[in-house]
Amino acid sequence: MRQSSLVVVANRLPLDDNAAPDGACEWRRSPGGLAGALHAILDGTPATWVGWGGGVGPARPLPDIGTLRLRPMSLTEEELRGYYEGFANSTLWPLYHDAVEQPVFDRGWWETYRSVNRRFAEAAAEVAEPGAAVWIQDYHLQLVPQQLREMRPDLLIGFFMHVPFPPPELFMQLPRRVDLLRGMLGADLVGFQREQAAHNFAQLAAKLVNARGADEAILLDGRVVRTGAFPVSIDVAEMQQLSARPYVVNLARQLRHDLGRHKKVLVSVDRLDYTKGIEHRLTAYSELLRDGRVKVRDTVMVQVAVPSRERVENYRGLRDRIEREVGRINGEYGRVGEPAIHYLNQPFDRADLAALYQAADVMVVTPLRDGMNLVAKEFVAARADDTGALVLSEFAGAAAELEDAFQVNPHDLDDLKETLLRAMDAEPADLARRMAAMRAHITENDIHAWARAYLTSLDLTGSLAQRLPRRRSPAAARG
Ligand code: ADP
Ligand code: G6P
Repeated sequence: MRQSSLVVVANRLPLDDNAAPDGACEWRRSPGGLAGALHAILDGTPATWVGWGGGVGPARPLPDIGTLRLRPMSLTEEELRGYYEGFANSTLWPLYHDAVEQPVFDRGWWETYRSVNRRFAEAAAEVAEPGAAVWIQDYHLQLVPQQLREMRPDLLIGFFMHVPFPPPELFMQLPRRVDLLRGMLGADLVGFQREQAAHNFAQLAAKLVNARGADEAILLDGRVVRTGAFPVSIDVAEMQQLSARPYVVNLARQLRHDLGRHKKVLVSVDRLDYTKGIEHRLTAYSELLRDGRVKVRDTVMVQVAVPSRERVENYRGLRDRIEREVGRINGEYGRVGEPAIHYLNQPFDRADLAALYQAADVMVVTPLRDGMNLVAKEFVAARADDTGALVLSEFAGAAAELEDAFQVNPHDLDDLKETLLRAMDAEPADLARRMAAMRAHITENDIHAWARAYLTSLDLTGSLAQRLPRRRSPAAARG
């Protein structure tokens, strides 16, 4: 077995095994922020990624992607139900996102969650060199840090939570809350998107397992577990480079033309997830049309919603509700050849996304709760000409950084409507100032800065961070 000095463990591999229409296997970049973010920093770094490639049944061996080795994990149908669809996505996901949908507590799922976590820990133990650093990701694998420490005390173990970590009032609802917390406390460094999450974690550690210490360092069983906020980001240079390509610039122009040259174009891009606030957004837009404050002849909305977790109960109902609502709004306010909303329920490739970001006058990112939201950062990176407005929910992690966005409380429909109008009517000089400030922030705090900050904190000698690829220069980024 080949071993690595850096091992990433995440539920998903950065590539998804999709069946092509002719039944052949087709690899695609995995959906969601985690895979994209980590893939960017591992490009050129020798490492192994342990994860699931989608689907059920035995895992096929996979070729390396450059310097990155892939260690695929299999899931049986029962594991998929109990671990991924069940405990991870029907219990933890809704609970960690403010319980905007009711979390399901099914006692049958726990054992599967624990045993799948153990299999991931065993795989990591197998591919990690003596003294290697193992970086475990997200809510699917909360037990892995402790399980892995028991198997391999020589390893440096990091854990990063990409989603929000809830306040004690919510976390305390969880059956098995002590096991979940102890699982994470097996790491040397536990990272979160926001300071508040690290604070929640320290409070819970004091309350549930009698740990001592402060937010930055928790003392348990004679061991120090460091914690901190490390807001995840995107490969800004890559997005800028992509956006400058003639194909993308022309496509953006074509999109503007097709959507109606003189119209204000509102764009949203989300996984089809109930945390993203798509229904609230549609209601706000529909009320603006009803009140006559927005007219189809001079405004159009594009909602891209990529299918996600389609076998999970809460997601199935959501898709039906959204499609009905889009149909109703178009039926009521659209005109022949001129819909109020273009709804696209399909994956986009990166270049098409970049063109869409460029075609937007207003990017509407209004999740009810989100760990970070990388779409907001991608939009800013794609707007090198300092035009366009970002409407951003206060409940996205990105709001702590993108202070110059038009921030909004998406639960408050009146606020949502007024903020959309303010963003549509803003002066170009105001937009340019806001966009330049936001771009300066993300350029400084890109995905490379994130990985460096986290890995320097994990390995205080700094040798781990030194192995990461250098950030591409802005000149290269302009391409
Ligand atoms: P989450 O991780 O919850 O899905 P983020 O906004 O952090 O939310 O990340 C979403 C990622 O998925 C972004 O990198 C975005 O570009 C990508 N994405 C969103 N919609 C699509 C789509 N229709 N096709 C392809 N990629 C998409
Ligand atoms: C969020 C989670 C990731 C997850 C992604 C896509 O970003 O934090 O861990 O991979 O959503 O969801 P999926 O269930 O398709 O992996």
